[in-house]
Parts: sequence; C-alpha cells; structure tokens
Amino acid sequence: MSKVAYVNGRYVAQREASVNVEDRGYQFGDGIYEVIHVHAGRFVDEALHLDRLERSLREIRLPMPMPRASLRVVLEEVVRRNRVTEGLVYMQVTRGVARRDHAFPTRPVPPALVVTAKRTLPFPKAAEGWTGTAVTVPDQRWARCDIKTVNLLPNVLARQAARDQGATEAIMFDPATGMVREGASTSVWIVDAQGVLRTRPLDHAILPGCTRAALIEELRAEGIAFEEGEYGLDVLRGAREIFLTSATSFVKPMLRLDGAPVGNGQVGPVARRLFDLFARRVQGGRNAAA
Ligand code: PDD
Repeated sequence: MSKVAYVNGRYVAQREASVNVEDRGYQFGDGIYEVIHVHAGRFVDEALHLDRLERSLREIRLPMPMPRASLRVVLEEVVRRNRVTEGLVYMQVTRGVARRDHAFPTRPVPPALVVTAKRTLPFPKAAEGWTGTAVTVPDQRWARCDIKTVNLLPNVLARQAARDQGATEAIMFDPATGMVREGASTSVWIVDAQGVLRTRPLDHAILPGCTRAALIEELRAEGIAFEEGEYGLDVLRGAREIFLTSATSFVKPMLRLDGAPVGNGQVGPVARRLFDLFARRVQGGRNAAA
C-alpha cells in the first residue's frame, strides 16, 4: 500500500509529495513540528502534543495553520488513509513559501502544513525487551555557528526583531558574557573609541565570513592595522564606527545602534575607505580572481 501525506490542503501519494524549494522550512529551518504516538488507533497524550504545537507556533510568531479541531480531522484522516493503528503521526508547520529573506515575509503567506503517518513496532510488552545504551556528548544545540547551516531560525528571529524596531540588522551578543558575536547574516566590524579597527576572532560562535576574509586580505595588502579581538556591548556602544560585511552587504556602515547614532551618525572615514577598497576588488581590482 502506498503511503499518503497531507501537503498544504491535499492528500497526495507520499512518494510524489513535494514542497517548494523556497519553503522557509527548507531554506531556514523556519518551522516547528510535533510527533504523536498512535496506539490502538488513538492519539496518545494528544492534548499535550497539540498544546505544545500551539505554544511552539506562538513562540515563533506563526498562526495555527487551521483551527485545532480541523487539524485533528487531518491527523485522523492521514492515520486512517495509511491504516496506522500502531505508529506515529508527524506534523510540520513552516512559515510558508516566500522569496529568500531572513526576516518574515512582508506580505503574509499562509503557513505550510505537512502531515505524515507511519507504522512502528507494537507497544513493548515489558521493559526488559525495550532497552538501549547511551553515551555522553556536550550539548551543542546550537553551538556550531561556524557551520553555514540552513538551521537559521534564531537568525530569522533576530533579523525580524531588527525589522520590528525599524533597523536593518540585528547584532547578536553572547547573553552570558555580553561579548559581541555577529549579525543575523553578517560579520561585524567596529572602529572603537580609541580608533582601533576591530573584528571578533573566528571560533565556533560565528560564521567565518568570506567577505570578512577578503577584507582582511585587502587590509593586509594596504598595510591597514586591525585587531582580531573580542569586545563587549559597551565597546560596541562606544564605537566611532560600526560596519557589517557579507556577500550581499559588502561593507555596510551602520549609522544607528539601538536607536542612538553611531559616532556622529554619518558614514565614518574607515568604513568609507574599506567600502572603496572592497568596491575595487569587486570591480576586478587586485585579488579579484583569488
Ligand atoms: N549570510 N554571518 C552569518 C550568520 C551569515 O549568514 C553570513 C552570510 C555572514 C557573512 O558571510 P559572507 O561574507 O561569507 O557572506 C556572517 C548570507 C549572505 C545570507 O545568509 O544571505
């Protein structure tokens, strides 16, 4: 018997089911899910799971894709069509399909809903026949920001927070130490109150930006001094200049931080010079082929 999935309003053969490549679940991990155990054809702890689904949705500011009663009907229908009496039902809700942009779609799009079900082994008869083994690992959820993963929900929420405050980018800091990390999709540079050009060193807490690396090449070639060192929010707030780099931001001066002007609120001389250096590189100057 071929499996059936519910995908955005339709019951389809699961092997033919597909989602749009611009679905934000696929692009950003911008979605949530639930799994409910099905035993003897019943949903086990259904209310707990559906309450958590609603909570997860609320936490990432997504509406329910349909009222809870209708969702129950879909879950039951998927379980029925797949003839699952012992197994699980899986549901996933994402922020839908939109042109790639970290912040939420500006024109609302309906959330995407996918539901599947599968059979599993019968419920075990005794604990003795239901055992495993374990190992310990450090909790790395999500401590590997150096990997350019599509698991971007925190970046999406940070960018949206910036947009909600009328800003273009969110600069993220370590909540435990107040040390600055990076933007939602950019590397951060400052000229501190002493006039020192600084960017945070590479480690697991930030993505090694290619534009950051390119700019460092240009700085070295030009003999422009800079420091790779950590700095905190206080130093950021006191900076003369703040600018961001990325493949799509190039060298982008930030004129305000948390509503207050950065330096004199104008493009600073260092950012302007580095913008020009980078523009030369882009337009085929030195290192363009590297
Ligand atoms: N983002 N940090 C993060 C978290 C990023 O997502 C990016 C790039 C950067 C800068 O990296 P690079 O200089 O290699 O572009 C830093 C891309 C532009 C994006 O997600 O659209």
